[in-house]
Formats: sequence, C-alpha cells, structure tokens
Amino acid sequence: MNLRIKSFEEYQSKYKQSVANPEQFWAEIADTFSWQQKWDNVLDWNFNDPSIKWFSGGKMNITENLLDRHLKDRGNKVAFHWEPNDINESGKSITYNELHKEVCKLSNGLKELGIEKGDRVCIYMPMVLEATVAILACARIGAVHSIVFAGFSSSALANRIDDAQAKLVITSDGLNRGTKKVDLKSMVDEAVKDCSSIQHVLVLDCIHSKPTMKEGRDIDYHALINKQPHDCTPETMDAEDMLFILYTSGSTGKPKGVVHTCGGYMVYTSYSFENVFQYEENDVFWCTADIGWITGHSYIVYGPLLSGATSVIFEGIPTFPDAGRFWQVCEKYKVNQFYTAPTAIRALMAHGTEIVNKYDLSSLKVIGSVGEPINEEAWNWYHEHIGKGNCPVVDTWWQTETGGIMLSGLGDLSPMNPTHAGFPLPGIQPALLDSDGNEIIENDQEGYLCMKFPWPSILRTTYGDHDRCKNTYFSNYKGYYFTGDGAKRDKNGMYRIIGRVDDVINVSGHRFGTAEIEDAINTNSFAIESAVVGYPHDIKGQGIYAYVVVDKSHTGSEREISASLIESVSSGIGRIAKPDKIQMVTGLPKTRSGKIMRRILRKIAEGEKANFGDTSTLLDPSVVEEIVGNSK
Ligand code: WTA
Repeated sequence: MNLRIKSFEEYQSKYKQSVANPEQFWAEIADTFSWQQKWDNVLDWNFNDPSIKWFSGGKMNITENLLDRHLKDRGNKVAFHWEPNDINESGKSITYNELHKEVCKLSNGLKELGIEKGDRVCIYMPMVLEATVAILACARIGAVHSIVFAGFSSSALANRIDDAQAKLVITSDGLNRGTKKVDLKSMVDEAVKDCSSIQHVLVLDCIHSKPTMKEGRDIDYHALINKQPHDCTPETMDAEDMLFILYTSGSTGKPKGVVHTCGGYMVYTSYSFENVFQYEENDVFWCTADIGWITGHSYIVYGPLLSGATSVIFEGIPTFPDAGRFWQVCEKYKVNQFYTAPTAIRALMAHGTEIVNKYDLSSLKVIGSVGEPINEEAWNWYHEHIGKGNCPVVDTWWQTETGGIMLSGLGDLSPMNPTHAGFPLPGIQPALLDSDGNEIIENDQEGYLCMKFPWPSILRTTYGDHDRCKNTYFSNYKGYYFTGDGAKRDKNGMYRIIGRVDDVINVSGHRFGTAEIEDAINTNSFAIESAVVGYPHDIKGQGIYAYVVVDKSHTGSEREISASLIESVSSGIGRIAKPDKIQMVTGLPKTRSGKIMRRILRKIAEGEKANFGDTSTLLDPSVVEEIVGNSK
C-alpha cells in the first residue's frame, strides 16, 4: 500500500534508482509488507543455470499480507463484488473479514483432506468467489495451486494434473456462460480416471445439477467447510517457496508449468498494480480476465488484494444478455479502473456506440489492455468511446513467465501513443537484440525483446524440468531472458510490441503452440500430417489456419472430415483452440531435409499468392501451387 509513483518525473528518477541499485530499490518496497522474519539476501542470481532468488531466507505468508494485514483498517471494506452471469440474479459482495473467514475455513478443510505444505492442488472452476477462496486457502497452508482454465478439455486437464502430480482437484458441478451451462464435473471425472496422484475431488454446487459423486473420492464443498473453525494460522513460507504453477504454451512440446514463488511475486504484483492503474484507496477495480490465466492470478486475485482494493469478479461474458453488459457492470459498481483484452474491445466495437452510450461511464479513470497487440482502430475507439477521451489507456505488455506487467504507461502520468505498450516499469531492464545476440542501440529498429536483469516476479523454473526453462528462456541469448516477442523502441524510449517471433500464436489473447494444435489434429485418423499457422483475424487478433494432409483411403466429405478434425482439437485442448480454417492438402511444403516451410504457409494464410521469397530449398514446388490454388 502506498507504493504509488505520482508524476512522470518521479517515475524517471525511480527508474534510474532501480537500475543503479536494484537491491536497495526492491528492499525498500519489500519492507512495506509484513514479514515473519526478514530476508538474508535481497537477490542472488545468474541467468545461466538459471538461478534466481529474491528475499531468500525471508519468512512470510502471502495471505497474511492480503488478508490479515488489512483486517484492522479494512475489515469491513468490500474485497470483491461478484457479478453473476444472469443479469436478473443478485450479486454478492464479500468484505475482507468475510473473505478471511472463508479462506480459513477452506484452509482447515484442505488440511482435513490431508493436503500439506508443498502438495499440488488443481483448481478447475468458474468465475465465482469460491475460486478465489480456493486459491487463497492453498496459499495459506503452503499448498501449490495450479489453476486450469475451465475452457480446457478433460484431456488437457489430465495432462496438467499429471505433470504437477496434484493430490486434489477443486471444481464445481458446472458453470454458467451466457445462455449455456457447461458440465465441469464430468470433465473432471474423465480427466482423473487415469491420474493416480488424485486422492479427492472437492465439488462446489454452482448450477444445481446434482452430479454423481464417487464414494470416498468426491466431497461436497460446503459439507467440508461448514464444520471447520473460522481461523487458521498461516503456514510459514520462505520467500522462495513455490506459490503456484501455471501451465502455458510454448513453441514446442506440451504446455509447461511456469513456477512462481511467494515473496517476489507478492512484491511485484502489488507494486505494478498500484502504479500501472494508479490505484487509490477507495477505487473500484475490474479486470475482466478469467482467473485461469496469469492476468486473473495477478490482477484479480493477488495484486488488488495485496493493496486492500475492492474489485469486481464477473461470472459472465461481454455479450450476454447483450453487448452492453461490460458497461452496465461498470455503471453498477462505479468502476474506476477497467482492464480487458483487445479481442473484447474489437468484438464490442462491432456493436456500435449506441449501446455504450446508454450507460454512465463517468467513474472510469484508467482503462487498460492486455494479452495481445491492440490495433490503432481499437485503441482509438476504446479511448474515445469508453474513456470519453479523458482516461489514459494503459497498454500493458507482460507474460505468464513475467508474473506482472513489464511495459506500460502508469495511469495518466506517462505519455501515450496508440499501439505502443510504453515504458519499462521501475526495475525492468529490457534489451532488443539482433539475431547475432548484439544489443540494438539505435531507435526504431525491430529486435528480439529480452530482459537483462531479474525482477522479483520472474519465473524461477518450469515444474519438474529445469532444463526446459533454461533452454526455452535463457539459452537463445546468453545472459538474457528471452521473451519470444519482437519489439521496437522509439526515440522517447517507448516500446511497441510486434508479436511473437516463435511458433506461438495468440488467439483472442490466449496462447497456443502450433505444435500443440498439430498434435491434437494428428490424433485424428483422417489426418496423416498437419501444419498450423496464425493469420490476421479482425476480432481475435490471430486466427488458426490448419493445413492437413488427409488419408485418402477414408471416405468422407470434406465437411465431415473438418468437423471430425475440429472435434479432435476440442477434445485434445478445448474449443478455444479450434481452427478457424482447415485446408485439406495432398502435401506440405518441405525442404529437402524434411522441414516444413512454415514461412510459406503463413504467407498463404495471410492471402499471399505469389511472393514467397527464397523457395530454392523446396523439395516439391508444385505443392505450393496446389495450396495457393485451394487456399481459404
Ligand atoms: C502477448 C498475458 C502486445 C505477447 C499477460 C506475450 C502482448 C504473450 C501484450 C504473453 C500487449 C501480452 N501487447 N502483445 N500489451 N500483452 N502480449 O503468457 O506476445 O498469456 O508474449 O500473458 O501475449 O501471453 P500470456
């Protein structure tokens, strides 16, 4: 609390201090939190192993900082306003005192189920208050949470449970999404069938569907917590003990479990929250992300609660019952800071301004964007029609791996430029590298975005496979953390993100590896081989274009085959990853050494018909002609 920088000049001087003496800079910020025992060292690090430790030896519990610490002065302050999917249903508000009690009850319940410090607990839940309670109960007893977005399929859930060797899944019978109800419990049943690590499934009643409960394994949420004491002493954690694992996609292999630890993540999420959003004590903050993504972790749960803020949690979707829902919620709770994704802005923009103008948005002070590049048209619309021309747009660039916002304006303090994320936060030291690994000093040149110094919430490892962490992030350029993004810096020091430079595509702000989608397609018996690329999509930012070599011995119409391929992606990953376009091909463009020339496929997906650059290494140029001829 009270970590807020109040002018651009102050930002500039803080930034300089943070680079000149990072340890002192972060120690002063960390000192504002409550520690059971002070740290031995502020920072020990090298980017080669990599080994990064912040505040090690320090003893603390993050829930003591985001609950207990506030009870004296903010006990009766609302922590969350929960807004249900159904506009006619009344919402719920929970104060810090009440949240503390609920978290303690569940913490005691988890202990009764045998969950101990260090055990992994998987959370697969809708956007209800109990999801936050579940996260915090894990943190209170030192269990490591691994939240899986409830839009992932049972097989994606099973992979994540298995990788983390989770003992418990916390879920609900189902969820409400617009006019639909989604059955979550049967997805969990299917997922845990072959997961030997799972001992229990804790089930919250959300849609009153009375699911079948497996004797001895499945437990009703309320039956467990109702009998629990209202107090639970927080477990003593070392600053470097694991807080959570969050799975995210990369260019190769299965999604990896990004590991964040207690102390550094606490310090950085709170610091970035207060500064980027210029949060003040009685503001109402609303981040529309799902808690299943890093944005939900850092800016629905941890950041705002650490600052003792009041936030909105919304169960529904932006277009139900109509495209005015976001604005109705902003009006209802007098939201001061609103944080959403460009995809949502573009989708709502298509509905025009009449519906926006029905609502009073005068409470808004800062509006934010996250997860994907925001195009100029969407930026302007957001600024003009939502911010009414007088709210700064903070275009926040960051990643699951960075834990918190890295590049952004700070509320109304910083200059803005549409499509430019802006400046590094204090403590963040970006560098743009050329393909030889040299730092690009000149302005307006595109380079690989890297970081040359650790910040408190940098990932520490990838769960169960430290080499993977090293190879993915710390090996491309020695001595740097590599983000996977390309960027430019202008003469004012503002960064503009170009997009991913690896085989990761960003669909509606959701990250997928092309290999992951190809693997799901290739499980289908129609498919012999496939190649997936991203292409520009008006609403989603990027769409998914799949080229599939199909087995000719199968009979089936193109439509049937497409539907079946889509089903394979839906069941392998989830409906969110289903291809927008599928093109059946007889072969893929490959080099003589058998490598797929994705560059050509990307160009075709973008609508290019002829200029494919150097194609001299192509094994069979006729394949390209055929693909261009039939492209979608
Ligand atoms: C992209 C989401 C442009 C980027 C917080 C990054 C962005 C990936 C922005 C991380 C932004 C995120 N402008 N691109 N403001 N924010 N990205 O891990 O490519 O889900 O590497 O974290 O999203 O996605 P992730």
